[in-house]
Amino acid sequence: MSIKRIAITTGGGDAPGLNAVIRAIVLSALNRGWECFGIRDGYEGLLAPEKHPQGGLIRLTRDYVRGITHLGGTILGTTNRGNPLRYPVADKNGRLVETDRTDELLARFKAERLDGLIAIGGDGSMEIAHVLHKKGLKVIGVPKTIDNDLDKTVITFGFDTAVHFATECCDRLHSTAEAHQRIMVVEVMGRYAGWIALNVGVSSTADVILISEIPYDIYRVAEKVKEREQNGRFFSIIVVAEGARPKTGSRTVAEKKTAGRAEKLGGIGQKVCLELEEITGKEARHVVLGHLLRGGTPTSFDRLLSLRFGAASVRALDEGQAGVMVALDPPTVNYVPLEQACQRMKTVPLDCDTILTARDLGISFGD
Ligand code: F6P
Repeated sequence: MSIKRIAITTGGGDAPGLNAVIRAIVLSALNRGWECFGIRDGYEGLLAPEKHPQGGLIRLTRDYVRGITHLGGTILGTTNRGNPLRYPVADKNGRLVETDRTDELLARFKAERLDGLIAIGGDGSMEIAHVLHKKGLKVIGVPKTIDNDLDKTVITFGFDTAVHFATECCDRLHSTAEAHQRIMVVEVMGRYAGWIALNVGVSSTADVILISEIPYDIYRVAEKVKEREQNGRFFSIIVVAEGARPKTGSRTVAEKKTAGRAEKLGGIGQKVCLELEEITGKEARHVVLGHLLRGGTPTSFDRLLSLRFGAASVRALDEGQAGVMVALDPPTVNYVPLEQACQRMKTVPLDCDTILTARDLGISFGD
């Protein structure tokens, strides 16, 4: 059956480049004579119509996607709470229970006569896409996340913009750290992967980088600060991934997992800052860059990647492919089975070139 009507969803945390992907999909689809619809707020537009009195589907026209390539956020809205595989539904005692609503979702796709879906998101979104594909929907996945923790693609869009911005922030912190002879601890997002912290730390010539993949010893970090002092450098910049953990402890969790909501990380920057102040006797300050990394205009790298991913996802549907994710495999964009993309989280390999570079430059990982 040939494609006539497709839907687009953006799920999970937003990332710069989402709107560029949407625009590329819409134009590529309209240029093939297809109709294109956006689902509001992940899958909420179809699963929770009561929240969308104006309609859960948006007809995407050329006008609708005009001038959005450079904008952060997503014109469709997103959520990281409406996973149809584990949707929080109140039981008879009012307790929220994670419930599989994918059959209901598929029935809604059928009722709307949608022939295909392009799902833009991170690991959670790719898992949903895989299940919908197995249940018969033609789905193509597009990998998005500032964390860069999706497997089978060299990079996800959003990552470059996040790293670029955080690097600029560290550059700014350098001058104030030096002026006050302080330790500056910068906490960055990344969930359980240290990609953002690693790339930001090396690019901004930080002195210490703490990532999830290398448990640290705070006394080793303090040694690095003291060693710098002996060499006449009275300030230090420390980049910490939100998922970093000490050798003898666990991750710093801001909020525990609840029904339909993932565990929320955060607070490690402050912890490291206070401990270093105590051990070194030096003044320290911490900064949490947090959601600032998710905003702003995508870099040209992310825009181009997003446009390439969007167009490639429509080509895939047109060629009769389904159940695949578009992936960057330089110099081309190719397709990998969703099943493979969902198997594992992509963390930083300990022998990767960037880690080796950091070590060669004398940057400490606190190990
Ligand atoms: O996955 C993207 C991300 O920004 C992570 O780096 C971070 O841990 C999480 O989302 C934060 O999510 P929320 O929007 O729920 O605060």
